Amino acid sequence: MPATIIMGGQWGDEGKGKLTDALAATAHVVVRANGGSNAGHTVTTSDGVFKLHLVPSGVLNPDCTCVIGAGVVIDPIALLKEIDGLRERGVATSNLLISDRAHVVLPYHPALDRAEESERGDDGIGTTLRGNGPAYADKVARRGIRIADLIDEETLLRKLTREVGSKNETLTRIFGVEPLDATEVYRTLVAAGSRLRDHVTASEMVVQDALDAGKTVLVECAQGAMLDVDYGTYPFVTSSSPTAAGACQGAGIAPTQIDRVVAVYKAYSTRVGGGPFPTELMNETGNTIRERGREYGTSTGRPRRTGWFDAVAGRYVARLNGVTEIALTLLDVLDTFDEINVCTGYRLNELSVRSLPAREDLLGQVSPIFSTLAGWKRDITAAREIDDLPEAAVAYIRFIESKLGAPISLVGVGPSREQLVPVTRDSAMLGAA
Ligand code: GDP
Ligand code: IMO
Ligand code: MG
Repeated sequence: MPATIIMGGQWGDEGKGKLTDALAATAHVVVRANGGSNAGHTVTTSDGVFKLHLVPSGVLNPDCTCVIGAGVVIDPIALLKEIDGLRERGVATSNLLISDRAHVVLPYHPALDRAEESERGDDGIGTTLRGNGPAYADKVARRGIRIADLIDEETLLRKLTREVGSKNETLTRIFGVEPLDATEVYRTLVAAGSRLRDHVTASEMVVQDALDAGKTVLVECAQGAMLDVDYGTYPFVTSSSPTAAGACQGAGIAPTQIDRVVAVYKAYSTRVGGGPFPTELMNETGNTIRERGREYGTSTGRPRRTGWFDAVAGRYVARLNGVTEIALTLLDVLDTFDEINVCTGYRLNELSVRSLPAREDLLGQVSPIFSTLAGWKRDITAAREIDDLPEAAVAYIRFIESKLGAPISLVGVGPSREQLVPVTRDSAMLGAA
């Protein structure tokens, strides 16, 4: 049976956690494909709010096998804290598997992340400071330490001795910050490795066996496609590929084994950290969206920047990722507006721009062309089927669908599990943009 990818269509925090949890109700395996503890995925159930960072959002379904794939970078201390927190709340984590090929985020990675951000000054990326970028940099430079190394004390000691020595040189000589104590780092990691050992496996084989056996496999991405290291708003991006292609690579699944790419978009836009954001609202409307949507980072608590829905960026992502369906979340946040804008084009120096400029300074200069739609001015949080939604809300859904060129199949009307409205697909309406 082919697999399904769940990915973010914007700059992250689109509600991937909630959607993965919902689809996991009927899935056998959920594989997290990319990112690290920079991610924060919220799932709200009758047992309360769960904030997941490294553990896949299928974990609240006890029948689901949850896999942290090879494409993820894992801070073992953060992962253990998350596992302990889940266990304390009665959530079983015995079905959690960790790829032996995944790279380890080591204590020098957050130290370097902090030092590099501070060196960037006003041009800061606004990273989550979780060490994500430096860990992926080491992976690509072929000097990373992997989970397979972490659980073998001798290998760990050998690789760690070399790496801590070299990273301490960088930390002290280039950045003028305190070095790390190699012995202490080793001891902490050995202890963490021994606690994680039973979860470690060749996870790509588990995933392939599940697909061979006709089981339902979901791939959960972190971040969003506009933060992709190749096609996002570089350099204001994350260091992995939160795309459909990245999902395949990170999970150990071939593109030919995928038949469904679900992109999650919010009904408006947010981004955290620096970088161009063409539809940003630096006014009361932006504040209203922030407060109504409780737009504060799940991992860092930072206020998120807010703006209208950007259908130019949205369509770019839908095309590049072969999106087969869309989940439009947080529609309820727009309940109080008289009018709602959607960006349907960019203008740069009086000219209309067809695609997103690669240069960040040019993307920073584009002005959005808006279409204005009527608001519905009604509380939609109790809606459970399309007929419960006001006409203007359905018109908004259809408008976005037509601009993105992919069908919207689910709409989010609140944070909890059951606040999802299935929307009839109507492919005849698509492709009008
Ligand atoms: P993720 O990183 O994509 O999993 O998203 P986050 O969990 O970081 O951020 C999404 C936020 O929106 C969380 O606080 C969710 O509880 C919340 N949320 C998800 N879907 C909806 C929705 O349809 N309506 C509202 N009001 N909140 C939602
Ligand atoms: P989820 O999975 C939103 C952003 C950071 C920063 C940039 C680089 O919850 O959607 P990094 O720490 O990755 O080097 O930071 O990427 N960022 C996210 N923004 N949601 C996320 O994850 C993010 N993960 C990273 O704010 O701008
Ligand atoms: Mg998030």
